[in-house]
Amino acid sequence: MSYPPHITNELLTNSASWLVTGAAGFIGSNLVEALLNLNQKVTGLDNFSTGFKHNLDEIKLAVTAKQWSNFTFIEGDIRDTKTCLAACSNQDYLLHQAALGSVPRSVADPLNTHENNITGHLNMLVAARDCGIKRFVYAASSSTYGDQPNLPKVEDKIGRPLSPYAVTKYVNELYADVFAKVYGVESIGLRYFNVFGRRQDPNGAYAAVIPLWFSSLINGKPLYINGDGKTSRDFCYIDNAVQANILAALTQNREAINQVYNVAFGEQTTLNELFFMIRELVAQKYPEVMKIEPTYRDFRKGDVRHSLADISKASNFLGYKPIFSLSKGLDQAAKWYMKI
Ligand SMILES: NC(=O)c1ccc[n+]([C@@H]2O[C@H](COP(=O)([O-])OP(=O)(O)OC[C@H]3O[C@@H](n4cnc5c(N)ncnc54)[C@H](O)[C@@H]3O)[C@@H](O)[C@H]2O)c1
Repeated sequence: MSYPPHITNELLTNSASWLVTGAAGFIGSNLVEALLNLNQKVTGLDNFSTGFKHNLDEIKLAVTAKQWSNFTFIEGDIRDTKTCLAACSNQDYLLHQAALGSVPRSVADPLNTHENNITGHLNMLVAARDCGIKRFVYAASSSTYGDQPNLPKVEDKIGRPLSPYAVTKYVNELYADVFAKVYGVESIGLRYFNVFGRRQDPNGAYAAVIPLWFSSLINGKPLYINGDGKTSRDFCYIDNAVQANILAALTQNREAINQVYNVAFGEQTTLNELFFMIRELVAQKYPEVMKIEPTYRDFRKGDVRHSLADISKASNFLGYKPIFSLSKGLDQAAKWYMKI
C-alpha cells in the first residue's frame, strides 16, 4: 500500500476508531481491509443492497486473526437515522461510501437513488455532527462535472449535472459544505473518477465497464461498447482511492479541510484503448479471446463524453501521490478476476 511513512507510523502507533459505510461494497471493503492491516478498529455498516458478504469473507482471509478481531459489522441502512447514530457513536473517523452507484440505475429509478444517496448522506452528516466525529470523508463523484467541457477537470469549475446520480453526488457536496459552515462538521469530499480493482462486482445490469469486460471475455459472453469507443475516462486503481481516503481523514492541514478533491490517476484512456488492454491481459490465460471483437451500440443516456482529472489540488493539499497507473492497476485486477 502507498502511504507516506509518517501516516503509517501514526496509525500503527495510535489506533483510532473508523466507521466505513458501504463496507461490503467494492471501495468500502478495500478501505476496511487497508485499515485493519494498519491495526485500526473498524466498524462496517452496509445493507447488502449492492454489497456482498463474500467481500467481508475475503477481508477475513487477507488479515490476521488479531486484526479481524478489531472489526465489527452492522447490517443496517443509512436511510434509518437511529442506525446512523448507533454506528457513529464512539468513532473518530467516518469514511462514507454507502450509496447507489451507476448513472443508468439512477435514470431507471431516480427516487431510489435520491433516498439512498441524498437522504442517507444527510442522515450520516447529522449522526456525525451529533457524535462529534473528527472527520467526515465522503465519496463524491466526477459526474459532478456534468456538461463542463474543459479538460482536465479542475475542482472549482463544474457544469450542470447530466443524470439523477450526478445530482445526488453534487447535493452531497452542498450538504457537507453547509454542515461545515453551520455546525462545524469537518469534511472532505473525494470526487472519484472511475475507480476499479479487486472486488468490483462484474455482475448485474449496472456493472462498471472494467469488471464487466473482464467477465465477458473470461466467460465468452458478447462484449459491447456504448458509442463509438472514443469516449474517454480517467481510470483510477482502488489503492490510489484508498490512499486518498486515509490522507483526507488524517490531514492536519487546516486549508485542506472542507474541500473537495479529484481522485484519479490523471491519464485519459478511450474505451477502445481500454478494450485492447483488457483483452491482452485476459489472453495471457485464455489466448482464444484475441479473436473477440467488441460490438458497438448506442451511447448511453446521462454519460459524460470525456473525463480527465487535474489531480494537483489533492497532491498539493493532501500529499496524494497515486502510484498505480491504469496499466499497473489492470495487471492487479486481471490477477483477481482470473484468480491467478
Ligand atoms: N466505483 C466508482 O468508480 C465510483 C465513482 C464515483 C463515485 N463512487 C462512489 O463511491 C461509493 C462506493 O462505490 P462502490 O463502487 O464501492 O459501489 P458498491 O455498490 O460496490 O458499494 C456501495 C455499498 O453501499 C451499500 N449501500 C448502498 N445503499 C445503502 C444504504 N442505504 N445503507 C447501507 N448501505 C448501503 C451497498 O450495499 C454497497 O455495499 C459510492 O458512494 C459511489 O457513488 C464510486
